[in-house]
Amino acid sequence: MASDIYQEAYQREKLLRKAAEQLLEDKSRELYASFEALQLAHQNLKENQKLVVQSEKMASLGVLSAGVAHEINNPIGFIYSNFCSMSEGLNDIHKFICAMGAVISEENDVAKIRAEWSNHFQQYDIEYLMEDFPSLSRETINGLERVKQIVADLKSFSREDSGAMDLVDINECLRSAVNILSNQTKYHATVDVEYGDVPKISGYFGKLNQVFTNLIANASQAVSENGLILLTTRCADGWIEVSVKDNGHGIAEEYLEQLFTPFFTTKPVGEGTGLGLSISHGFVQEHDGEILVASTVGQGTTFTVRLPVKKTV
Ligand SMILES: Nc1ncnc2c1ncn2[C@@H]1O[C@H](COP(=O)(O)OP(=O)(O)O)[C@@H](O)[C@H]1O
Ligand SMILES: [Mg+2]
Repeated sequence: MASDIYQEAYQREKLLRKAAEQLLEDKSRELYASFEALQLAHQNLKENQKLVVQSEKMASLGVLSAGVAHEINNPIGFIYSNFCSMSEGLNDIHKFICAMGAVISEENDVAKIRAEWSNHFQQYDIEYLMEDFPSLSRETINGLERVKQIVADLKSFSREDSGAMDLVDINECLRSAVNILSNQTKYHATVDVEYGDVPKISGYFGKLNQVFTNLIANASQAVSENGLILLTTRCADGWIEVSVKDNGHGIAEEYLEQLFTPFFTTKPVGEGTGLGLSISHGFVQEHDGEILVASTVGQGTTFTVRLPVKKTV
């Protein structure tokens, strides 16, 4: 009798344990499945985020490229015309040398040679050419340097940062952002830059370049005619501070909290994507830094990027 009860209890317990084991197994399988789904969703999210960052970059690149084309076209125009003048001038110098070669080989009379020299000198306008050549070549070299600089800046803007951080010169990074946007700013705003003495820090040049480009583009869009944009870099208490100050329309208080939210924009479609600040915020966070904003409606806005000085790469 006692053994029957014991047997029954044992069977019941066995059944219960089996059911519990089955439940546990089902739950583990469910958990594993949802873990896999989560992992996939996370992977998708990461890929989407990359695409969003890339598309904001492409959108600003689209705006920039029109300006860049103009900016390159101008020096190319005068380089071309300078080269044409120089090539014509070289032709004349060549003719002068040939003519004088013929004179010298046929003539012994020094006075006649001198007379021919001054004749041909005038005929081919050698004096003018000699005066003109140095300034033409100086201008041409300047123009070529400008084109070279624009291309270098464009390259740094579209640069994909490799996985590892580099030592970044923040002043150089800012200078390249200013340069690349000069076509957007120069017609309606004055951009003053005060470069402070800042140490190189470990970071991603391309990402920081994109942050500065976004902030300057926003400042440029916020100011009207005769706008002022003041950029400063400085280092204090182990932090590098880059501030972008404008005397534009400012930001209403109710918007301040939303500035860094993706897709928040007050600009018309086609002009604003609402991604610049949110992406910049992410990039600055990757450097363990922060972006501060202070604004007064009707007076202007100052964005300050703070980056801790860390030198290990
Ligand atoms: N310097 C500035 N002055 C005034 N408003 C600004 C400034 N910078 C950003 N903003 C505001 O923040 C919003 C979000 O900026 P951002 O993320 O760069 O997107 P977008 O420029 O495409 O609108 C802007 O639409 C604008 O309302
Ligand atoms: Mg923007």
